[in-house]
Formats: sequence, structure tokens, C-alpha cells
Amino acid sequence: MRTWLRCVECGRVVEGFAYRCPSCGGLLEVEYDRLEIRLERGESIWSFSGALPVRERVSLGEGWTPLVRGRSGAWLKYEGSNPTGSFKDRGMAVAVSHALDLRCGEAVCASTGNTAASMAAYCARAGLEARVIVPRGKVAPGKVAQLVAHGASVEEVDGYFDDALDAALAAARGGAYLMNSVNPYRLEGQKTLAYELVVQLGRAPDAVVVPVGNAGNISAIWKGFRELAGLGLVDGTPRMVGVQAAGAAPLVRAMETGRLDPVGEPETVASAIRIGRPVNWPKAVRAVRESGGTILAVSDWEIDRARLELARREGLFVETASAAALAGYRRALEEGILSAEEEAVLVLTGSGLKDPEVRLPGPRPATGRATASRRPPGSGPPGEAPCPPG
Ligand code: F0G
Repeated sequence: MRTWLRCVECGRVVEGFAYRCPSCGGLLEVEYDRLEIRLERGESIWSFSGALPVRERVSLGEGWTPLVRGRSGAWLKYEGSNPTGSFKDRGMAVAVSHALDLRCGEAVCASTGNTAASMAAYCARAGLEARVIVPRGKVAPGKVAQLVAHGASVEEVDGYFDDALDAALAAARGGAYLMNSVNPYRLEGQKTLAYELVVQLGRAPDAVVVPVGNAGNISAIWKGFRELAGLGLVDGTPRMVGVQAAGAAPLVRAMETGRLDPVGEPETVASAIRIGRPVNWPKAVRAVRESGGTILAVSDWEIDRARLELARREGLFVETASAAALAGYRRALEEGILSAEEEAVLVLTGSGLKDPEVRLPGPRPATGRATASRRPPGSGPPGEAPCPPG
């Protein structure tokens, strides 16, 4: 198999490795002369090695996570059951393998916690030095414990994820291998979620609902579906529905304007997606447009409530950011963006054990909605009660 990188902005082909297009600075994407996707059940993401651009194969058994039919009617893809408890393991298995291919000895990332935890574990496994940069005081405690346990060196910066990413980019210029999702190799691992869904469902779903922070995952999953469609392995492709927290939702506007106005001080209870300047926004906008999907913003109240609903009605304890998928699904049904008859998959991105503080939301605050409701009064969704039954 031969692979190369192509700039998603200007189309330039880049041989060798880069994080950005040398001509225009655009994001890069991996392309293949021949993709081989075996649509059958496997033990790890490496069952799709015919569509992964590396020689080494570092693995902790990532991928092949459960797909559970929810009582809500939607399918729940539980990424919390990956080895380090989040979807990041899919990407990290490939990116760490690529670092070994390139003989890099040190890996670096900025993170709200999960990328760092995953990188620390895979670097431990592969014998690489792991250096993580996180926003001070803004990482959930379970993730901090993972960093310590796996022996990563941790730097804290004052500010937000976006500031940590600037520091990680500087470290990468110094020669460390960058594990953030601006790295197109990492996203190759994450596209395997699309392949898995097609094996597990026997077809592509109608919609995939994904919490969005730095916007890598929604872009990666869409690439997976595009590849399957290009090979004629699926009849249709799903609408990609991205969900941001209302206090950190620059992509909602970017969808309308086609450019990104960063949010300077992003605020949300969903610390994993507290990001004001998503690096992958051009890829995400393309994914949403091509797929006929949308980006929604949901309030913290809706996220907390969805988290409790997942725990109490579905039996799944997810981390706060992951609950944005259900909050977004409910909103999409309310607003007529999706219908209950459509087969939707909610990507539950991480385990609740990482983020053990459980907030019990009170009654919906008057300002609890991110945008004005379009539904008539009195026709609310089931269970407007503050908490789902305990
Ligand atoms: N859900 C969880 C649990 C996450 O940790 C993240 C991102 C996302 C959703 C959003 O994914 O960035 O690809 O749009 N966490 C990153 C981190 C930023 O550093 O762990 P995205």
C-alpha cells in the first residue's frame, strides 16, 4: 500500500510527513493508492490494517466497542470501553505506531485529559517518552490519575486547551512527535469507528451524533464513511450531527459563515470539550456539509440531564462531554432535524469513571436552553422533570 498526504484546502500532495500544508498551511489528510477494508468483526482496530497507513502495530486491544440499542431508540456506541476509557485509543494506537515508524523517541500533546491519558498509556506500551501539556485546574481527576500512573511528564499552562495546544505545537517544532488531531495519522485510527458501525449494524446508520471539541473525531468518522462509500461498501452515508456545549460552540457560527470566530473564554461543565478554537474546524465544516448534517449547541443543564438519563435509564455512566451526544440527539428530535424513525448512533466518547463528579440538575433554568426553542409551549419532550427517575 502506498500513502501520501493531501492538503484539504489547496489540494497539494505532500510526500513525507507534515502536520500542515507547506504551501498554504491547510490541514492534511492521508490518501491511499489502494484501500482494503475487510468488513468483519475483529479483535482491535488492526483488523482494518489494510486501511491504516503504518508498519508498526502498537495495540492495547482498542476498538470493537459495544453498540447497544438505547431505550431512547437510538444506538449507543460506548467508547468508554476502550483500554484507557475513551475513543482516543483508536487514534493513539495508529499515531504511536507512526512515531515508531519514524523512529521518534518523544511524543507531545495538549489535552483536556483524554488525549493525554491515552497517549501516556500507548507511549508506556511502546517505550516512548510522553510529555503532556494541559490547562491548569481544568482536567477531570480520573484523567490526571492516568497521567501519573503511566509516567507522563505533565506541564500545566494558565489558560485554556487552546493555549496548551500552542505550547504543544512549539514542542513539535522542536522535534517531538505531535499527537493532537491536527496530526492526520491519528485521525486515521479514529475513522475505524465508521467501519465498525457498518459491521455491527449491517449497514450505515442514518445519522451519527458526536460531541465536538477540537473537531477531529467528527472529521475522522466522516472520512471512514466516505471511504466505505467510495469502495461501494455502503449504500448510503449518515448525516453527521456535531454537538458543542453552548459556552464553547464556535462551530455553530462557522457553519453559517464559513470562517471561525474563536471563543476567547470557553465555559462549560463538559471540560473535555471546553475548546474555543477547534483546530480541525475546516474538516468538520466539510464533514457536516457533505453529509447533510448540522452542528448544534446544548446547554450545560441539558448535558447534565442527559448524563443522568444515560446512567439511570440506559445503565451507562459516561463522562460529561459524552452526554452531549444524547443532549444533542434530544434537541435534534425536538427541532425536527432528526426523526425518531431514523436510525441514529450516539457516540458516547468516554467513561464516567474519569469524571466522577455527578451533578444532579435542578429544574430546567429559564436560560437553560442554548437557543430559543422552536417548539410550541406544552409540547415538551418526555421527562421534563429535573432528573430522570432514580
Ligand atoms: N468527548 C470526549 C470525552 C473528549 O475527550 C473529546 C476531546 C471529545 C469528545 C471531542 O473530540 O476534540 O475530536 O472533537 N478531547 C480532547 C482531549 C480535546 O484533549 O482529550 P474532538
